[in-house]
Amino acid sequence: MRILLTGKNGQLGRCFQDVVLPTNHELFAFASSELDITNIEEVSAVVSDIQPDIIVNAAAYTGVDKAEIESEQVFLVNATGPEILAKYAARLNIPLIHVSTDYVFDGAAVEPYQVFDKTNPQGVYGASKLAGEQAVAVACEKYIILRTAWVFSEYGNNFVQTMMRLAKERDELSVVADQYGCPTYAGDLAQAILQICEQYKQGEPFAWGLYHYCGDIPTSWHGFARTIFAKAEALGVIVKRPQLKAISSDQYPTPAKRPEYSVMSTKALSRFGVQAPSWSSSLNFVLDKLK
Ligand SMILES: NC(=O)c1ccc[n+]([C@@H]2O[C@H](COP(=O)([O-])OP(=O)(O)OC[C@H]3O[C@@H](n4cnc5c(N)ncnc54)[C@H](OP(=O)(O)O)[C@@H]3O)[C@@H](O)[C@H]2O)c1
Repeated sequence: MRILLTGKNGQLGRCFQDVVLPTNHELFAFASSELDITNIEEVSAVVSDIQPDIIVNAAAYTGVDKAEIESEQVFLVNATGPEILAKYAARLNIPLIHVSTDYVFDGAAVEPYQVFDKTNPQGVYGASKLAGEQAVAVACEKYIILRTAWVFSEYGNNFVQTMMRLAKERDELSVVADQYGCPTYAGDLAQAILQICEQYKQGEPFAWGLYHYCGDIPTSWHGFARTIFAKAEALGVIVKRPQLKAISSDQYPTPAKRPEYSVMSTKALSRFGVQAPSWSSSLNFVLDKLK
């Protein structure tokens, strides 16, 4: 299969390259400097040159707080870019695999969000990702959108890397304990995307549409930090874990409001044989890599 990957230097982009490497698929991976998804001419040239069987969009504007003051650029990357990719996918009659976020929800739920639940993003980033979902659904028929959450990996900036850095700098740390979600390893997400690509290649009919994909057991940022430090200490990644203090969101104000509860149900994805991955096991793997 000829797979076109955008955003190759991001967490998902790098993990996707890792999971495709041992397969015999042909991967054509592009960084933002090589393929800007908001540039129609660039997308057109790359797509007609490569003639992919499938497009995987790992490109996004992911700076949730910075997004609040860069609204135009955020919507360009997270809504217009996916729309352009979707239009070219439709033109070639090939699928687009796109990734969205739990931040499309307002977090007022008390049980896991289903794909059909009402969206109500609380910030510019979430609104731009929702606009991207809608633009993709209008522009092409063959699409899979995977909403994911709390992405971590051995690459780039993420909560695990931040905790590792802070563990070396501080003896005490305050972490928000009233926001709940499901940490997701980018490598597990990449594997799930590859599995979906391979199932598509096996033949139609195919269940196009919107799905949720995230780690299995909900936790708070405080709970996630506690697990990270316990594992990191046991694995010898850090010498000593800092004292963890649980605080409320009010005590840690951020420019963009986060959903209080963004746990998502991954049930719908079982039709592809994809289950919610154990983020705890994947965390061991990532910490081992960071050692
Ligand atoms: N990170 C999370 O916690 C999280 C949570 C929920 C959902 N998601 C979603 O999951 C997906 C993957 O996220 P991630 O964490 O892997 O993101 P990431 O690490 O921030 O990577 C995003 C990549 O997109 C590239 N990019 C930005 N603008 C672009 C453009 N105009 N054209 C082409 N590439 C562009 C960036 O390149 P440059 O660095 O060169 O700008 C970067 O390499 C995204 O759709 C994101 O919205 C992420």
